[in-house]
Amino acid sequence: MIPILLALLAMPGLAQFTGNAACGECHRNIVRRYAATVMSKEGVLCENCHGAAGMHVKGSGRLEVPTALEGAARDAVCGQCHFTGAARIARAGRDVGRYRAGELLTRYAASFVYAAAPGVGGGKMEELAASRCRQKAGAELWCGTCHDTHTGVTDRAACAGCHRAQQCARGKDCAGCHMPGNDHRILRRKGAGVASGWQLRPFTAADEGVRELGLAYYEVWTKTGDLRQRDEALRLLGGVGRKDMAVRKALAGMQKVGTKKR
Ligand code: HEC
Ligand code: HEC
Ligand code: HEC
Ligand code: HEC
Ligand code: HEC
Ligand code: HEC
Repeated sequence: MIPILLALLAMPGLAQFTGNAACGECHRNIVRRYAATVMSKEGVLCENCHGAAGMHVKGSGRLEVPTALEGAARDAVCGQCHFTGAARIARAGRDVGRYRAGELLTRYAASFVYAAAPGVGGGKMEELAASRCRQKAGAELWCGTCHDTHTGVTDRAACAGCHRAQQCARGKDCAGCHMPGNDHRILRRKGAGVASGWQLRPFTAADEGVRELGLAYYEVWTKTGDLRQRDEALRLLGGVGRKDMAVRKALAGMQKVGTKKR
């Protein structure tokens, strides 16, 4: 079994994407509808959400259906692109580009948000995670609760799946008031959108890692110039092996600025 598997993995192209044209023959309606969506026009492929289809288009091999995946793996399908947060750092020896639908994104990268404002950063993923709806309803609420990505249609009435009209009799356009400017934090009242504080925290428990947190502080420091972030990066990376290229680069980057200032 194993030698066959290794031979398959070594074959060029199987983990590569085939492209949407290859799906039309058998999934004509989905392909036609999807082609008109914003995401399709932005270049998002069927396989970004369903996994590499090299075997499947030849008539063998199953693909992933996001809704059939367990919570974190399902959320990662959208989160691979819709997380902005403070920083996303590739894990040692990993390439985020090799992530495939069905896997856990945290195998490839660790994501960080500002501790004092975890929902601020610009990505819908961290916004929704900060909403009381998601925090209380849990994994039941996800992107697909309101968005049909094959058609690009948003169900603005999806709130009714969990909220009764009596809970808020202020009008029918729930999202109009509770998601102004498409704010996925779904706040009671329009809230502030400015990140405060300098400290970072892992987006989820599975995003933890001293090396990754250190590199995240380095990355945000290059943008903000906040010396507390640089010092934290130095402290954390000081204990990490110097053989790591990304760590070496960060330490050198901080060194360079240090010398320049003297
Ligand atoms: C030769 C015909 C054919 C082509 C080409 C094809 N599919 Fe399929 N696909 C099928 C069939 C048949 C099923 C239903 C399998 C079942 O239910 O047992 C299916 C099922 C699926 C599923 C559901 C999960 C599964 O594996 O059952 C997804 C997702 C999917 N296809 C995506 C794609 C994508 C994306 C492409 C293009 C890259 C594609 N398909 C190309 C025939 C095809
Ligand atoms: C942005 C992510 C995304 C993209 C892009 C996407 N899909 Fe899907 N697809 C989903 C999700 C989510 C489901 C599950 C829908 C559900 O269960 O309600 C699904 C379900 C499916 C299914 C099985 C269920 C069904 O509706 O028959 C097939 C087949 C499929 N997609 C094919 C495709 C093809 C072909 C493309 C490209 C033309 C494509 N998908 C593009 C997210 C995506
Ligand atoms: C490979 C990257 C990628 C993946 C995977 C992806 N998206 Fe997107 N998405 C984009 C890009 C790029 C845009 C266009 C820019 C923008 O609006 O942020 C976009 C736009 C959107 C939009 C706004 C446009 C519209 O049609 O309303 C929605 C909603 C959306 N995505 C939902 C999802 C959901 C839900 C998933 C997971 C099932 C998902 N996306 C997966 C990259 C991706
Ligand atoms: C999957 C279920 C679910 C969906 C869908 C959902 N919510 Fe919620 N929402 C909840 C839960 C659970 C709470 C927490 C209630 C509590 O604290 O007692 C909540 C809380 C809220 C709150 C109070 C927030 C706060 O900070 O106190 C508002 C406002 C709200 N939801 C609006 C909406 C709107 C608008 C939509 C649709 C755009 C929506 N919800 C969709 C489950 C959901
Ligand atoms: C409770 C419902 C709900 C959930 C859950 C939800 N969205 Fe949305 N989303 C909306 C509404 C409403 C809009 C406004 C656009 C519209 O109505 O067409 C929107 C808009 C967007 C846009 C366009 C934003 C822009 O500024 O152009 C993107 C991208 C998006 N959503 C991605 C996501 C992603 C990714 C997730 C999961 C992390 C998600 N959404 C979860 C309701 C939802
Ligand atoms: C005209 C604007 C507006 C519309 C439309 C609206 N809301 Fe509200 N909603 C508010 C305001 C304002 C509050 C009260 C905030 C406060 O007390 O801090 C509120 C409160 C809430 C709460 C918290 C209630 C509680 O007792 O804790 C929920 C849940 C909620 N809305 C859900 C919804 C849903 C679901 C819809 C759509 C059926 C909706 N809202 C439509 C403005 C609106």
